[in-house]
Amino acid sequence: LNYNVNRERRFILQLLFNGLRRLEYRGYDSAGIAIDHDQPLVFRQEGNIESLVKSVYQEVDALGLDLEKSFSVHAGIAHTRWATHGEPAPRNSHPQTSGDENEFLVVHNGVITNYQVLKETLIRHGFTFESETDTEVIPKLAKYVFDKANEGEGSHTVTFSEVVLEVMRHLEGAYALIFKSLHYPNELIACKRGSPLLLGVKEFNEESNSGSTFHDSKFLSNNDHPKELFLSSDANAIVEHTKKVLMIEDGEVVHLKDGNVSILKFDNDKGRHGGSLSRPASVQRALSVLEMEVEQINKGNYEHYMQKEIHEQPESLKTTMRGRLIRGGSCKAKTVLLGGLKDHFKTIRRSRRIVFIGCGTSYNAALAARPILEELSGVPVTMEIASDLLDRQGPIYREDTAVFVSQSGETADTLQALEYALENGALCVGITNTVGSAIARHTHCGVHINAGAEIGVASTKAYTSQIVVMAMLALAIGGDTISSQTRREAIIDGLFDLPNKVREVLNLDQEMKDLAKLLIAEQSLLMFGRGYNYATALEGALKVKEVALMHSEGILAGEMKHGPLALVDENLPIIVIATRDSCFSKQQSVIQQLHARKGRVIVMCSKGEAVSVCPGGLGRVIEVPHVEDCLQPVINVVPLQLLAYHLTVLRGYNVDQPRNLAKSVTTQ
Ligand code: G6P
Repeated sequence: LNYNVNRERRFILQLLFNGLRRLEYRGYDSAGIAIDHDQPLVFRQEGNIESLVKSVYQEVDALGLDLEKSFSVHAGIAHTRWATHGEPAPRNSHPQTSGDENEFLVVHNGVITNYQVLKETLIRHGFTFESETDTEVIPKLAKYVFDKANEGEGSHTVTFSEVVLEVMRHLEGAYALIFKSLHYPNELIACKRGSPLLLGVKEFNEESNSGSTFHDSKFLSNNDHPKELFLSSDANAIVEHTKKVLMIEDGEVVHLKDGNVSILKFDNDKGRHGGSLSRPASVQRALSVLEMEVEQINKGNYEHYMQKEIHEQPESLKTTMRGRLIRGGSCKAKTVLLGGLKDHFKTIRRSRRIVFIGCGTSYNAALAARPILEELSGVPVTMEIASDLLDRQGPIYREDTAVFVSQSGETADTLQALEYALENGALCVGITNTVGSAIARHTHCGVHINAGAEIGVASTKAYTSQIVVMAMLALAIGGDTISSQTRREAIIDGLFDLPNKVREVLNLDQEMKDLAKLLIAEQSLLMFGRGYNYATALEGALKVKEVALMHSEGILAGEMKHGPLALVDENLPIIVIATRDSCFSKQQSVIQQLHARKGRVIVMCSKGEAVSVCPGGLGRVIEVPHVEDCLQPVINVVPLQLLAYHLTVLRGYNVDQPRNLAKSVTTQ
């Protein structure tokens, strides 16, 4: 919504399309947009953003819309979808509407769990539905509420926020919503529960107003300042316009009108129990400044985001460690500083156990760090996949430290597991890559991994930074016990040198491309790991399956004889991770057993050890630099990331937007 800044329709369309392009990595099966005309105009299209752009310009031509027409106030909304209810199709795309007149339009991120009940009720009241989405009930409900409030009235008296507050009272599930309405031109309402939402403010003629606060509609210093206001579920969509943002909290209703912002807090319980909603509290909060650069979300000279993110790991790891590792100084001490946890180490050390909770790659990163945490902290460490913990309602105790690992900080399962752990009284620690994310905000304390924006759906640099943060966590929890001093110092030295070693392993790019050419037509690829590198096998296989769309499985090598061995023949390729650590001799024997069954073995080993892992030159070898055992997973995953990347390109699949997947899964 822009206010007092003259903007042409062409500019507004481009701004919305660019915003969608920045968000496409979060959903890319269909998209839609609504802009102002005499009444709101809606365009929806199946496919990616570019198909929407094309169809909008075609329709604009057909309708004879004037692209030069300029607006000083304009409220536009747009959406890119990742289907949950209903196949990708224009009718299921957002904005969803209240009916042909577009009286109410809604874009939605999340899932409405009680939509069936609402739909049945609305059908009884004469509404007809055209989509299979859960979202469609929302604009229809808004129309119902609006009509009801204005029954018998000549002109409407109910405000836009009152309509939305009433709608919210009936919604269950997770949502971030933006409403636009024919009845309230030049206004937008946004609200959220569970799904992320932020407001961005770009003021013109302003020097700096970071630290400014809201108070109801008295927004910033002067309401007459020309400004543009943005609402988005992700900072990526707005960072090129402004860095001044406000993270919207659950239950808040943001009202944008003629350049003003007011925020009301919706008290759900009050509503449910029939209490009055007519006077929700207004909210006062400080704007924050995004620490993010536009360059971070561009591809630079790379073909794909995944490729860029793999190759920037030496730098992202440096940023992760910056200011946190101390070596030298007068006392020559080597230590780790994690400011976000400093007041909590005592509690963590005294915990009954440390429970890691996450999904996908974040879970794998925690698994990679588990051995070093157990070793240095002396506290038992257990692992939970967030959805499984919730399914089982597994035990979480007051004496537990629950560590939530999530790149986005918004994954619905992890977030719900966090609520569960908070209810059970555990100390909750967040490890995320997204400042201001729900997990960062709702945990008691935490560490940001500072890997920079990760756009490729397949996580790469966040994985290695997460492992490094957890290794630093292990060092910090371990404290300064004399018995482990040598070990700790070796790890710290290893951390300092890690970016160089990652740079070295990235030289395997061409070799991994050659390997990908060999494997291009395979149906399946197994990866065997154990100890520190069990997680590497899982993560390598996850990369291959999610982007290259090839079946791949990470297998705990110790379990080989209990099933997987039956699969071994001369055709099935198997990558065995056998870098030098305490499990090395066991992996050597795994390799021998595979050879004995004529297995097609590819071994990953430490540099210079090809002969000891491949007696007689049998099979192919990937040699990687040797580092401290607990940091080796950071090195070993890189060739597997490269392999997955090249396999995907060679097989002709979409690298950054793999079929059916989304970057952050904010629905359950
Ligand atoms: C999705 C992504 C994965 C990611 C997982 C957990 O499935 O596609 O790449 O590992 O979510 O996401 P989080 O943001 O919590 O790390």
